[in-house]
Amino acid sequence: MSLTFKVTRNENPATQEEREAILANPGFGDNFTDHMVRISWNPENGWHDAQVMPFGPITISPAAGVLHYAQEIFEGMKAYRHADGSVWSFRPERNAQRLQASARRLALPELPVELYLESVRQLLEIDKDWVPSGGESSLYLRPFMFGSEAFLGVRPSKQVEYYCIASPAASYFKSGIKPLTVWASEKFSRAGAGGTGAAKCGGNYASSMLGKAEAVENGADEVMFLDSETRTFIDELSGMNVFAVRADGSLCTPALTGSILEGVTRASILKIGEELGLTPREERLNFKQVLADIESGDILEMFACGTAAVVTPIGAFLTGEGKTVIGDGAQTEKTFAIRERLLNIQYGRSADEYGWMTKFVS
Ligand SMILES: Cc1ncc(COP(=O)(O)O)c(C=O)c1O
Repeated sequence: MSLTFKVTRNENPATQEEREAILANPGFGDNFTDHMVRISWNPENGWHDAQVMPFGPITISPAAGVLHYAQEIFEGMKAYRHADGSVWSFRPERNAQRLQASARRLALPELPVELYLESVRQLLEIDKDWVPSGGESSLYLRPFMFGSEAFLGVRPSKQVEYYCIASPAASYFKSGIKPLTVWASEKFSRAGAGGTGAAKCGGNYASSMLGKAEAVENGADEVMFLDSETRTFIDELSGMNVFAVRADGSLCTPALTGSILEGVTRASILKIGEELGLTPREERLNFKQVLADIESGDILEMFACGTAAVVTPIGAFLTGEGKTVIGDGAQTEKTFAIRERLLNIQYGRSADEYGWMTKFVS
C-alpha cells in the first residue's frame, strides 16, 4: 500500500546552534526533532491523509477513546549514523510487524509494513540532521497509534491516528556500564494469561510503574516481573527481556508464553549467541532455581536487553529475602561480547551478514 505524503515544513525549526547543543548532550526522550508524521484511519477510507508536519501538540476530543480506555500501542527503534554519514535502522520490519500484532490485540487497524517503513523514511529524510554521529548516540524513533474517536461507549474507535516522532538519544550509559541490581516483584504483575503482555501497549507500562517505584525504594535499579499465576517463572523487566549464560555454554531466555514482549534485541541475540559458541535455549526459567544456580556457579552471567540499553549486565537480584550476587557482580565476558557484536552491526562497524540493517538516508 502506498500513499503520497503531504509535506509541510516547520517554519520555525531549531537553529543549527540549538540543534548542535542538543546533539552534544541529548539525554533520552527530552528533545524532539522539527517534524513528525501522521496518518489517519477510518473504516470508510482505511489509511489516508499521510502527512509530514511540524512537530507540535495534537488536538483531540476530551471524549477520545484513548483517554478513557487506553486504546493505544507504540514502538521503539533507533536510527544510527554510520561512518560515511548514511542513516540506518536495525530490523525495522520487525517493529512494523510487532506494531501490527499489537494492533490486533488492542482492536486497532493494522498499518501495512511498507507504510510504516515509508513513514520512518519520510521523517528521517526531513530530519536527517538530527541523527547524532558521536559514540553510541542515535535518533530514537517512537511510532504510536491511538483511538481518537469522540465516543464514550466501550468499543474499538472508528477514528484512529498513527504518528511517528523522533528524539535524539545519548548512549544509555553516560559513565560506563554499571551492572543492574534487579528487584523481583512479589506483589505486582505486569501481565497475565490472555492479557496484553505480548503487545506493546501503554497500559502495560502504566501498570509496571508502581513495581519500578518499589524496586527503587528497595535500592534496586529495575523491577523484574514473574508469571502472574504462580509467581514462579521469570517473565521480563518492565522494558527489557532477560537472559542467563550458564556454565554449560547455554544461553537461556524465558520462552514466549503470551505475557512477554518479544524483543527484537532478544530475537537477534538468540542468533548472535550461536555465533559466539553458545547454545540458545528458550525455556521457562524458575526464579528460585535461577537463584540456586547462581549460588552454585551453574549460572555465570545474566543480562537484560532491549533497544534503548542494548545489553546490560545484571549484577544482582534483590528479593524480600535478600540479595543474590551473580558471579562476582561484574562477570560479564559473554554479555559484553554479545553487546559489542550487536553494536558493531548497528553502527556499520562489522558486516551485516544477516541482512538486518535498512538504509533510510544515503
Ligand atoms: C516490556 C518490554 N520488553 C522487552 C523489550 C525489548 O524489546 P526490543 O528489543 O524490541 O526493544 C521492550 C522494549 O521495547 C519492552 O518494552
